[in-house]
Amino acid sequence: MANIKTVGVVGAGLMGSGIAQVVAQAGYSVVVREVEQRFLDKGLKAVEGQLQRAVEKGRMTVEEKAKLLGRIRWTLNLEDLKGIDLIIEAIVEDLALKQELYRALDGLCPPATIFVSNTSSISIIAMASVTGRADRFAGLHFFNPVPVMKLVEVIRSIRTSEETYRTLFDFAKSLGKEPVTTKDNCGFIVNRLLLPYLLDAIRALEAGVGTVEDIDKAMTLGCNHPMGPFTLADFVGLDTTYFIANVMFEEYRELRYAPPPLLRKMVVAGYHGRKSGRGFYDYSGPTPTVTDLGL
Ligand code: CAA
Ligand code: NAD
Repeated sequence: MANIKTVGVVGAGLMGSGIAQVVAQAGYSVVVREVEQRFLDKGLKAVEGQLQRAVEKGRMTVEEKAKLLGRIRWTLNLEDLKGIDLIIEAIVEDLALKQELYRALDGLCPPATIFVSNTSSISIIAMASVTGRADRFAGLHFFNPVPVMKLVEVIRSIRTSEETYRTLFDFAKSLGKEPVTTKDNCGFIVNRLLLPYLLDAIRALEAGVGTVEDIDKAMTLGCNHPMGPFTLADFVGLDTTYFIANVMFEEYRELRYAPPPLLRKMVVAGYHGRKSGRGFYDYSGPTPTVTDLGL
């Protein structure tokens, strides 16, 4: 079984920064790669903020925090991922961009390096097939917020080798996560079930069934969900939700995955949810307020 010591994380957004944190927390050396310095800074700030919170709550010492941060190297240079054992890709949910990245990584990394994608929906084999290492390629789907959510979906494509799968399953456990195994079917387990629910909430809003606040309240108090569907969609990112819906609708041609017009309009308007400051809620004040969507 492959021995993983060094881990590369590509993308330092919502997911990449959280993944870098938990991987470093488990003792691995991490190299995080971004395309622009401002995104790298944002990722570092997110990790520092989480660790500072842990220090303030007495769960970590200042020395432990410094040691952990010292295990993460932040770079804009793809070449810095050259000698790494495992690369976890967490860039935007766009097949063409992911394929372009994997082609470049495949030319750069030695054959032993394992590649995994944190994709929410895209078929693993569609990415693996542009590399010469489809047997050493799989999905590791983490959940947001990564430091808190226990689940990792381990996705085997039809070409993922047993050794790669075993290595990744054990790697997920070494992070303190609970892995489940899923086939390479677009959306895997969780998003196959979650996406239609989030999209239906938007359709219910479009149909005037209830307000954003009342639909959220109904699902938190009526079903004991920690977040209502609009708070959750904002949390995931409306751009990411929209990309996932498109990928799933393209694959299955089933209406339950079709992105509602309101979602598309909001994404086009730059309302990308909590990370952009506005989605179904406006996050610019001390507490979120409902965005006026002209409904
Ligand atoms: N990053 C790291 N840790 C965070 C965090 C973040 N963004 N937000 C909260 N936390 C931690 C806090 O530090 C706190 O930890 P301690 O209790 O140990 O101090 C704990 O989470 C609880 O935080 P809060 O009390 O501030 O807030 P909360 O009780 O409302 O919980 C939540 C926040 C954990 C995010 C909770 O609301 C929740 O579980 N929401 C649903 C999240 C969910 O469904 N995620 C899956 C999204 S779908 C997906 O990820 C797949 C995909 O492909 C789209
Ligand atoms: P995000 O928009 O927060 O971050 C994506 C980051 O990737 C950006 O900072 C961008 O600059 C960077 N990037 C783009 N191209 C790059 C490249 N070639 N090299 C390095 N960095 C690059 O998105 P996110 O929410 O972190 O999602 C990332 C991936 O994780 C997507 O595939 C998404 O579907 C998946 N995912 C998201 C969630 C979620 O709740 N948001 C949950 C699980 C999985």
